[in-house]
Amino acid sequence: MNIANKTILITGANRGIGRALVNEALLRGAKKVYAGTRNALPNVDPRVTPLTLDVTSVSEIQRAADEVDTLDVLINNAGVAMYDDLSNSDVIEQHLAVNLLGMLKVTRAFLPLLRRSKGAIVNNLSLAALAPLPIIPAYSISKAAAFNMTQSLRALLAGQGVAVHAVFLGPIDTDMTRGLEIPKASPESAALGILDGLEKGEEDIFPDHASQPMAEAWPTGVVKALEHQFRAFVAENAVNQ
Ligand SMILES: NC(=O)c1ccc[n+]([C@@H]2O[C@H](COP(=O)([O-])OP(=O)(O)OC[C@H]3O[C@@H](n4cnc5c(N)ncnc54)[C@H](OP(=O)(O)O)[C@@H]3O)[C@@H](O)[C@H]2O)c1
Repeated sequence: MNIANKTILITGANRGIGRALVNEALLRGAKKVYAGTRNALPNVDPRVTPLTLDVTSVSEIQRAADEVDTLDVLINNAGVAMYDDLSNSDVIEQHLAVNLLGMLKVTRAFLPLLRRSKGAIVNNLSLAALAPLPIIPAYSISKAAAFNMTQSLRALLAGQGVAVHAVFLGPIDTDMTRGLEIPKASPESAALGILDGLEKGEEDIFPDHASQPMAEAWPTGVVKALEHQFRAFVAENAVNQ
């Protein structure tokens, strides 16, 4: 997948990693970038088309899908993270609404266009999807669930020509990690790593210095082996239909 001349939609595009992805896609020669945001975005580049898109709003998702006529890449980037200790289930539900169900609802809305273009879905997950960060357990649950969903979508959509990528981000210097005194990568370098991974066709992308050490062992690990083993059920069922 080459970004040049492609049409790309990025959710949560107004700040942080989303904004960096918009800029990186433009640098790589994207034909058009739909920037999904909850609030109006000042338009800076003629190739950027703002889209009002709260990923928890079914009506806004539908309206956004109606406005887009062709799409090669959907980047599900919008996300929330709140500190918690699992004592309040509302906090878990808030994370699931955005980080899991928002991602799924947006994906389903744009799937007809992605099927037509034989396009790609990129889901911005976290290392917390692989092991919980217990200062943000509700967030970790939502990212683990979103990873599981990403694996299922990958298997379900493979026969339809739609590639599904998971991105395991480490700590990135955005509003989300404000106040966390640990080494962080810049959003610009994260965006570069994400689009490099997409262009290289890596189904699981480890885009930054904290996540990269995992990339080498990942393809031969037990999680990947089980994913491949379980994926075979989809192919069997498809043949039996
Ligand atoms: N920063 C990190 O260290 C890190 C690490 C691992 C994974 N990630 C993931 O990377 C993605 C981007 O994170 P970030 O660091 O750039 O975070 P950020 O700076 O806090 O930005 C979050 C973005 O998501 C948008 N958003 C939140 N709720 C939304 C909703 N209901 N509908 C639409 N947009 C919504 C925000 O829009 P508003 O401006 O309207 O709030 C904002 O654009 C997230 O999925 C995050 O989980 C980040």
